[in-house]
This record gives sequence, structure tokens and C-alpha cells, in this order.
Amino acid sequence: MAKTMDKMNKRGIFITFEGMDGSGKSTQINALKGFFEERQEECVVTREPGGTKVGDKLRDIVLDPANTDIDPVTEALIYAASRAQLVRQVIKPALERGINVICDRYLDSSIAYQAYGRGLGPAVPMINKEATGGLMPDVTFFLDVKPEEGVRRITEVRNKSGGSLDRIELESSDFKSLVYEGFLSIAESDPERFLIIDGNRSAEEITEEIKAVTENLLNKQGE
Ligand code: ADP
Ligand code: TYD
Repeated sequence: MAKTMDKMNKRGIFITFEGMDGSGKSTQINALKGFFEERQEECVVTREPGGTKVGDKLRDIVLDPANTDIDPVTEALIYAASRAQLVRQVIKPALERGINVICDRYLDSSIAYQAYGRGLGPAVPMINKEATGGLMPDVTFFLDVKPEEGVRRITEVRNKSGGSLDRIELESSDFKSLVYEGFLSIAESDPERFLIIDGNRSAEEITEEIKAVTENLLNKQGE
């Protein structure tokens, strides 16, 4: 009975995945979803930009390669707007009901891509303070794969599926290097939350590491 009450009162765990495009986020998110299902733990999987009706429209705008004239500040605001909607409509309500949330990208992507990649610096955390309402993940898995390897994987996928690259994927290798440096800086400043996971190993090995960290968090959650 006491355990059931604990479960009713506990807040869900908020997990995010970060990394360059092609770093293996979707692969690992699927595996982690399976892990939650095996444990019969409720979990919602969502993504940024998008994850809500409004957010999906913003995603279309910000990733459309035809929108060559989007100003970097506009870009940062679009990502933040999508985030504001997702936090309020999906993430916070789920966590409050004790449901775990896995999100493909979150604030760290804006820090890496807009603050570092576009050079907007401190304006990005400022904009996002309001968007996130201060909500930060309990843990972030940064799949560490160099930009060139991400591009190699994405190109392989697109060649097979016939899909095309989005506006951000089409960016220069200099931009991607800045983004990657941005992620490493976040890891340095917030090592307890933002975990560097070597993404160059087999998908199965990576999953084992991620599952172990998550299991630890779930066990602590019940304490
Ligand atoms: P993301 O969601 O970060 O863009 P995906 O999970 O879609 O990445 O993976 C991109 C491509 O790389 C896919 O073809 C996937 O099968 C492959 N991939 C995923 N994980 C690994 C891995 N650990 N090693 C090699 N290739 C991988
Ligand atoms: P993503 O959904 O990971 O792309 P895909 O489904 O093709 O793997 O992310 C879309 C792109 O948006 C990705 O290149 C990273 C970029 N992005 C930002 O620049 N800033 C942000 O805040 C977020 C969330 C994503």
C-alpha cells in the first residue's frame, strides 16, 4: 500500500538525448522505450522541434531548406516557441502525473546550435528561461559522434531512403564543428546531468550503458 502511494506521488523522470544529426538518438530512444515497456513503467516519447500540433508547424518552418532567409534570432525564437508549447502541453503534465518523458533534443540543442553554432551566445539561455520555465532534464545522454561521422551516417540513410537533407543538415562543416564544440562545453559545465556516451560503439553496447544509468535513476526515484 505504502509503495503504491509512493508511486502515485512520485514525479516522472525527464530524460533527453542530444548529439549531432546521425549520432544514433532515434535508435537509442527506441531501445530505451522498450526498456521502460519491459519494466511496465509508463513513458512518453517526444521530440524537438515538434511534439505538439503547433510545434510540428514550427518544425516545418524552421527545417524547410526553402527558408534561406531565416535570421538566427528568428531561428532561436522558433525553437524556443516549439519548446514552450511542448513543455506546457506534454512534458510538465506527464511528469506531474508520474509518467516518465524521453525527449529527442531539448534546450542543450539550442545552446549548441544557436548559441555556439550561430554565435548568439547568452541571448539563447535568456530566451529559453521563459520557454522552459526552468525545467531541466534529470539526465541527458549526449551521443558523442564527431560531425563527419554523423554526416556519413545521415548521407547513407538518405541515399537508401531517397529523402533529402533539411535546412540545418545542409549547413557547412564549420557550423557543425562549432555545434559539436558547444556540446562539449555543456558537458564540461554540467557533467552530472549531461553525460558523454561514446556513440562510436555498437548500438547494443550503447543501449546497455544508457539502460544502466536509467535503472539507477528509477531505483532512486522510489526512495
Ligand atoms: P539520429 O536520430 O541521431 O539522427 P539515428 O538513430 O537515426 O540517429 O541513426 C542514424 C543512422 O546511423 C541510422 O542508419 C542508424 O541505423 C545508424 N546507427 C545508429 N546507431 C549506430 C551505431 N551505434 N553505430 C553505427 N551506426 C549507427
Ligand atoms: P532532429 O529532429 O534531430 O532532426 P532529424 O529528425 O532529422 O534527426 O532535429 C532537427 C534539427 O534541428 C537538427 O539539425 C538540430 C536542430 N535544432 C536546433 O538547431 N536547435 C534546437 O533547439 C533544436 C531542438 C534542434
